[in-house]
Amino acid sequence: MPLVNAKEMLTKAMEGKYAVGQFNINNLEWTKSILLTAQELKAPVILGVSEGAGKYMCGYKTVVGMVKGMIEELNITVPVALHLDHGSFEGAKACIRAGFSSIMFDGSHYPIEENIAMTKALVNACDVLDLSLEAEVGAIGGEEDGVIGSGECADPNECKQIADLGVTMLAAGIGNIHGKYPENWPGLSFETLEAVKATVGEIPLVLHGGTGIPADQIKKAISLGVAKINVNTECQLAFQEATRAYIEAGKDKEGKGFDPRKLLAPGAQAIRDMVKQKMEIFGCIGKAE
Ligand code: 13P
Repeated sequence: MPLVNAKEMLTKAMEGKYAVGQFNINNLEWTKSILLTAQELKAPVILGVSEGAGKYMCGYKTVVGMVKGMIEELNITVPVALHLDHGSFEGAKACIRAGFSSIMFDGSHYPIEENIAMTKALVNACDVLDLSLEAEVGAIGGEEDGVIGSGECADPNECKQIADLGVTMLAAGIGNIHGKYPENWPGLSFETLEAVKATVGEIPLVLHGGTGIPADQIKKAISLGVAKINVNTECQLAFQEATRAYIEAGKDKEGKGFDPRKLLAPGAQAIRDMVKQKMEIFGCIGKAE
């Protein structure tokens, strides 16, 4: 199946009360692990690419080529969207040109009027090419490629202004942050989520910072209108732990010399296990039968 935008998979998720996972990719192993797991579990999936990861992987065109090639060579038949994560305005335009099927423009750090103007321009561009577009209101805490948000809760009226522009999905800050949650994290603000949902209507909501949110809070967020959940750090941690165990066991010293295929295999498997674990919580397994 060719790359698809995220519209249909998110509409179905809203109707079926589950969430589609966005798993960020950083290299070939990451991408392969996520695609194989989605296929094995018959789950729709969104591959997220931050601007930093895009640069690392030799640019957006390389990413598009790699993902499209893998979908074909691995016989992936479940719906796959290739999505820019936390894009700048310029990054969004570059990914549109490169062939991404889905774009996030993160204008949350601009004054709302500027966020509206830039998001609106991208709504028009994405409409012409039938791409899905995610917008953000109320910065997500933590650090993502140098963009630091303070984890604020979004203003429902601002959310409505952005939703009414015709974006496909909306990321609204509800106390979620990227990376690990601190010990004293008060949890997601369901009050904010309910207020946002009541104001914006049927548009799918996106939960960033999926790492470390307890399963019961994730399920409650889904019941209140979240249809896409982003996970990055937990896959990185799983990869790190598996690779470290392999090295500490001295296995990297076996054989003729450095062999990336062997060294990266435990990490790749750890990502598969993590993606499966998350998909079980999100309820998206079997939804692409
Ligand atoms: P985590 O790194 O906390 O999983 O968040 C990922 C994310 O929201 C990407 O946009």
